[in-house]
Amino acid sequence: MSRPLVVLVGPMGVGKSTVGQLLAERLGTGYRDTDEDIVRVRGRSIAEIFVDEGEPAFRVLEKTAVHTALAEHDGVLALGGGAILDADTRGLLAGQRVVYLSMDVEEAVRRTGLNAARPLLAVNPRKQWRELMEARRHLYEEVATVVVATDGRTPEEVTQAALDAV
Ligand code: S3P
Repeated sequence: MSRPLVVLVGPMGVGKSTVGQLLAERLGTGYRDTDEDIVRVRGRSIAEIFVDEGEPAFRVLEKTAVHTALAEHDGVLALGGGAILDADTRGLLAGQRVVYLSMDVEEAVRRTGLNAARPLLAVNPRKQWRELMEARRHLYEEVATVVVATDGRTPEEVTQAALDAV
């Protein structure tokens, strides 16, 4: 059996890294995460890059990270929640098996609302989540070949649903 490259997209906190690692185990392949690649290459945290260099600079780094990872990696690849904002990055995903892990706004607030370490959600989590989802949902749907809803599901259940779907 050839090893599929599965790309995971979806909002922050949806469980891309947990599900991605479980999925990689089940497929007998490796797991990679573009946020981790950026931190390693840059030698600074995502929050530090956002604060000191700004979001546009982060998006440029992210585009390069996605491009490099797609060229180098043949396992499961998780992208940062905002990677799909960039049209070139969305173009890179054409022809890939892309699983969109979705969740509704209330689930997002429950899972991440009190986590001030996430730079995009520091002020009013519910309002910011609503705006974020409205701005991004159609972009996740545009790149996805499969959508897996995570609301009320454990990471194991989500992993199984993703395996059944790809
Ligand atoms: C972001 C999501 C984060 C990280 C950065 C920006 C976003 O990744 O790339 O904080 O714009 O949604 P995770 O989705 O892995 O948390």
